[in-house]
Amino acid sequence: MLLDVLHTLQGRRGHLVRADLEAFSHRARVPLATLHGAASFYSNFRLDGPASPVAVKVCRSLTCHLNGSRQLLKTLQERCATEGGEVEVSGCQCLGLCERAPAVTLNGLPLGPVTAEELLAQIAERRGARTRRPAPPRVPYTSLARYRKAGGYDALELVRKGELDLAAVVSTLKASGLRGMGGAGFPTGTKWEFVIKEPSQPKYVVCNADEGEPGTFKDRAFLELSPHEVLEGLLIAAAVIGAKEAVLYIREEYLSARANLQKAIGELRRSGLLSAPGPQLRVVVGAGSYVCGEETALFESIEGKRGEPRIKPPYPASIGLWGKPTLIQNVETLARIPEILRRGAEWYRSQGRNGAAGLKRFALSGHVAKPGWYDAPLGLSGEELVSQYGGGMRDGHALKALFPGGVASGFLAKAQVSTPLDFDPLVKAGAMLGSGGVIAVEEGTCAVDLVENCLEFFAHESCGKCTPCRVGSEKLLRMVQALRAGGPSIDPGTVEELATTMIETSICGLGMTAPVALRHALQHFPEEFEAHAQGRCLTGWCAR
Ligand SMILES: Cc1cc2nc3c(=O)[nH]c(=O)nc-3n(C[C@H](O)[C@H](O)[C@H](O)COP(=O)(O)O)c2cc1C
Ligand code: SF4
Ligand code: FES
Repeated sequence: MLLDVLHTLQGRRGHLVRADLEAFSHRARVPLATLHGAASFYSNFRLDGPASPVAVKVCRSLTCHLNGSRQLLKTLQERCATEGGEVEVSGCQCLGLCERAPAVTLNGLPLGPVTAEELLAQIAERRGARTRRPAPPRVPYTSLARYRKAGGYDALELVRKGELDLAAVVSTLKASGLRGMGGAGFPTGTKWEFVIKEPSQPKYVVCNADEGEPGTFKDRAFLELSPHEVLEGLLIAAAVIGAKEAVLYIREEYLSARANLQKAIGELRRSGLLSAPGPQLRVVVGAGSYVCGEETALFESIEGKRGEPRIKPPYPASIGLWGKPTLIQNVETLARIPEILRRGAEWYRSQGRNGAAGLKRFALSGHVAKPGWYDAPLGLSGEELVSQYGGGMRDGHALKALFPGGVASGFLAKAQVSTPLDFDPLVKAGAMLGSGGVIAVEEGTCAVDLVENCLEFFAHESCGKCTPCRVGSEKLLRMVQALRAGGPSIDPGTVEELATTMIETSICGLGMTAPVALRHALQHFPEEFEAHAQGRCLTGWCAR
């Protein structure tokens, strides 16, 4: 598989060398241009020469930005500029370590929160180290023995023996109200039914562990701490839809999650649970692209192409991976399934609040006292999540706004934070639950700066396949950048026109959600935009 090959080639020399690509192109009869086209799509492949012996990446995405990453990056770049190329410091997008903001990687090793002084000390240590890439931090996880003791894999065995028939599994999932936790919230049982009904063979099941949305790190928690929950959900899905192969696509930066996942798969193989009638199980490691989390882009990526989304319909249930019927689910969705089958649909439904069904693992970050992931009832409010789980806002500050589902979800203003964190109520409030990456923002933060950061993310991650997103996200970003640089004020009518075009005509959700935060900021904080047009930041945030 092409991604595996590119990772191996890069792993050998620290970057992709033309001679290696030519040799592979010749051997595998793949045109060099195809290889280059794929490799150049992903941020983590280096085609421009070897990395420096010490490489630091500083996350610039929203939660880290709110916690001082811009200053951290600037200080490090200034202090390391005299190192003669020995130390490379660059900015990057969300590392999935948002609870540790400001987060960085040092030769791939995740660190955070860190100050510039702490990092400079670590850089000095690494300069003398013999190995470039350190081992991933060890995170204890629930072993197969412990998982089985608590009833783990019982549901899979019942399904495989036919004691839990396939129609019963689907009707339990439907009755539980379980919806997709990767962003779109599609009812899970209904999706399984669509794939089952497809006559074409073979079928595939895919677990989406690409998790790249700023503010989202809950899938990392599942994979690091309880990989067997995810694997059991994946194997049940494979058994129910009759999949030939199960693929788990995980982002490259999740070193500890990948290590624990491999250990858990090793345990499964030794236990015989992966033998026939189980499917082939394959792990594919991504290479740094947010849009690859979009389901059809993810298929393209697994197939060894540039991770560009496909036009839908057709939907993955009929034409997915390798053009075959495919069930794709988020990590959290799959992880919930074994327990639902063991404890029943009613049990799961009853976990929700305010009319919502079930549980949600919220990733909470931003200006809260205790950032982290929390299993909470779906339907509790953002206000409750922050106060009852997150320890309130840090230093007793007041809340200004709350992103309920990462930067793509738009945000709730203070007056709206009692809205239940649930799919439909949030849509009614003009926002989205997304994947449940909640980012709390304190009073005193500049709405213009906030929005500029969101737009930078989307403009950076747009794959460029369709014009509304490629041009629109850049244009919106340039309007906000110009405003901050003392340029003309932003015309809300122009923003509205651009936003409508992007929402209605973009191929995928990235382009459809890119303008939402700016729309909300203009709606809730117009005075901050007006002040910036006159060269003033009302909050004083931009002068800090
Ligand atoms: C730009 C973009 C990025 C996405 N990233 C992810 C992701 O990292 N993980 C994920 O599960 N779903 C992601 N999704 C949603 C997937 O397309 C898809 O809806 C999901 O994997 C289906 O699983 P679910 O029904 O269990 O949520 C993304 C969607 C878009 C438009
Ligand atoms: S909306 Fe953006 S990310 Fe999605 S296909 Fe179009 S250009 Fe690519
Ligand atoms: S790690 Fe920085 S925003 Fe997620």
